[in-house]
Amino acid sequence: MQCLEIIGGSRLRGTVPISGAKNAALPIMAASILTDGETVLHNVPDLADVRLMLTILERLGVKSERDGNGTIRLRVEDEMNVHAAYDLVSKMRASVCVLGPLLARRKRAQVSMPGGCSIGDRPIGLHIDGLEALGAEYELVNGDVLMRCKKLTGRDIFLGGPFGSSVTATANVLMAATLAEGRTLIESAACEPEIVDLAEYLNKCGAQIKGHGTPAITIDGVDKLTGAEHRVLPDRIEAGTFVIAAAITNGDLELEHARIEHLRAVVELLRRVGVIVERSEKGLVVSSSRRLEPVTMTTQPFPGFPTDLQAQAMALLCLADGNSMITEKIFPDRFLHVAELNRMGARIRKEGPTVIVEGVKKLIGAPVMASDLRASAALILAGLVAKGTTRMQRVYHIDRGYERIEEKLVAVGANIRRVDV
Ligand code: EPZ
Repeated sequence: MQCLEIIGGSRLRGTVPISGAKNAALPIMAASILTDGETVLHNVPDLADVRLMLTILERLGVKSERDGNGTIRLRVEDEMNVHAAYDLVSKMRASVCVLGPLLARRKRAQVSMPGGCSIGDRPIGLHIDGLEALGAEYELVNGDVLMRCKKLTGRDIFLGGPFGSSVTATANVLMAATLAEGRTLIESAACEPEIVDLAEYLNKCGAQIKGHGTPAITIDGVDKLTGAEHRVLPDRIEAGTFVIAAAITNGDLELEHARIEHLRAVVELLRRVGVIVERSEKGLVVSSSRRLEPVTMTTQPFPGFPTDLQAQAMALLCLADGNSMITEKIFPDRFLHVAELNRMGARIRKEGPTVIVEGVKKLIGAPVMASDLRASAALILAGLVAKGTTRMQRVYHIDRGYERIEEKLVAVGANIRRVDV
């Protein structure tokens, strides 16, 4: 078994190349199911989740080739199989993104209902409601979502749920609507940059999508889509993670390719903490004062503060000069990192969907357990600044969403290595 061993105390300095966005690449790869001909995707990160999506697509008749520098070629060669089975789907919730494309292109889909995960319940009712609204029939058989249709017909669909918009439900309905007859309007659509990137890829394939990036997306159905070439946008969550790495080590980093317009809420929150993030020629630069101010923050759908950076922000606020409050509005149970940070000397207490983070003078290295992708990033950040050695187990979590993270950290001065235990 592997663990990451981090010896704290280094101030990070230098340039970090930000990779392509996992949460854009995954739905775009699924969207290739909709197309004839070849799709060429550039800047696709080399991640466990990307490799898993390629395996799922392979089983669905989508042939793929990868070169060594982030380019993937995809081509549909067989449309017989429409079943994304539990053994793969249970490993990655984003597998649900094949549902809309299979339904629209092959008129039937059988996708295992994704189970819950460590960040909480992961229902897909909005996905199913949205696709039923387009004319699909649905049933649940032995844990599989079965959907079929004779054809899909565009219509107005409200996609808001109890926690606001849904990113992958927006992706599924958007993809299905590209081949529906007539116009679809998605109200309360997710505005995340990853949805914008998906829509831009689909428009290159011949789709007629407008309003992406706003809560109202209009799609005029077309008869067919043809594969296209597309460069995946930079990963704003990876960039935000490295912004906080610079802040927590009182370092100076330049994040190459990062787009500050995708991180406005993060930049604003960090400004209040005392960390300055500015646009630079290559992307953005981060500098911080030694003193960190406590803040009150809430996670929201884009353009609000992203839930995927909540754990990382919490690690930083453990060292603020006072008490901070963090409310998690997207996944109220997304706090498994609290117990692990407290093992490192943090003083965090949970009160429902809110945690109170009492600032401490220092964190102490300790053996810790990663519970999910972003919690593992938070524990690495804490280890970078903790006194002594931190050993993080279940390293596979971090490999799902961060490309070569210890290599990137070592290159800017961190003392981190992967060890077999
Ligand atoms: C996407 O997940 C991301 N994953 C998540 O990133 C991210 O945390 C999340 O959006 C929120 O930004 C990918 O894009 C692959 P949601 P998704 O549907 O689409 C509720 C990471 O670390 N909801 O936007 O699954 C849901 O329970 C991952 O990279 C319903 O109620 O999230 C949640 O409370 C983790 N019914 C809220 O909506 C539904 O049918 C937002 O979830 C669907 C969702």
